[in-house]
Amino acid sequence: MLNVKQVSKLYDGKITYRALTDIDLTIDRGEFVGVMGPSGSGKTTLLNIIATIDEPTTGEVLIDGSNPHRLKKDELAKFRRRELGFVFQDFNLLHTLTVEENIVLPLTLDGSKVAEMKQKANAIAEKLGISEIMKKRTYEISGGQAQRTAVARAMIHSPKLLLADEPTGNLDSKSSKDVMEMLESINRDERTTMMLVTHDPLAASYCNRVVFIRDGRLYSEIHRGDNRRAFFQKIIDTLSLLGGEANDLSTIRV
Ligand SMILES: Nc1ncnc2c1ncn2[C@@H]1O[C@H](COP(=O)(O)OP(=O)(O)O)[C@@H](O)[C@H]1O
Ligand SMILES: [Mg+2]
Repeated sequence: MLNVKQVSKLYDGKITYRALTDIDLTIDRGEFVGVMGPSGSGKTTLLNIIATIDEPTTGEVLIDGSNPHRLKKDELAKFRRRELGFVFQDFNLLHTLTVEENIVLPLTLDGSKVAEMKQKANAIAEKLGISEIMKKRTYEISGGQAQRTAVARAMIHSPKLLLADEPTGNLDSKSSKDVMEMLESINRDERTTMMLVTHDPLAASYCNRVVFIRDGRLYSEIHRGDNRRAFFQKIIDTLSLLGGEANDLSTIRV
């Protein structure tokens, strides 16, 4: 479903900075793939290129065989809104809106009927355990609830591909676990393809596969199998080989 082919990214400046080199990555439909690597290794750059927020310098990205970077501006906006879902570290909710209004935002932008939006919002809120807070404003809810709201918003239009950048970065360990279990169940039940960028080994252990990047290049990949705990340990072992800031195990939670 997703093909990243020989993608490189150079940032121009006084000195040109090479953020990614020859990245090849294929993600199958229904897969849940984690991307890990030390701070500054190019994880967000890769995610932003796949998200069409940023352009590759060379190489291409194919989603279901076509290259969204070739779309015209308005077509691209539509593509992003309809086919992709985004979850970020800082939740990105609109603070003047209620939880429910935030969740239906993508549908509002697409001109859906109010009754239909409400029905979809209620169904997803039920699944994510946030039915009770639908009328609250975003400053009245916890970080964990805010991230659930963000996931509900990212999922309400049933995107082809959900992209998450450090979704547990601002959460305590209990909320992180909740959010990851939620993403895991959405992946399992809806077969939504997911890519998660994280430096949190616990979060990564919920993926089917984790690819590691170092200095903008693919370093290795490991598969989960059926034991999440064993996978978690394998992730930690790989990170310690990888070095860099990701090797700082002091922040790790089991
Ligand atoms: N817009 C930009 N202009 C110049 N350099 C950038 C820009 N965005 C990121 N970089 C650099 O590219 C490298 C990779 O960044 P990033 O993809 O954010 O890493 P990660 O998400 O793995 O921490 C970093 O060294 C960063 O400073
Ligand atoms: Mg990043």
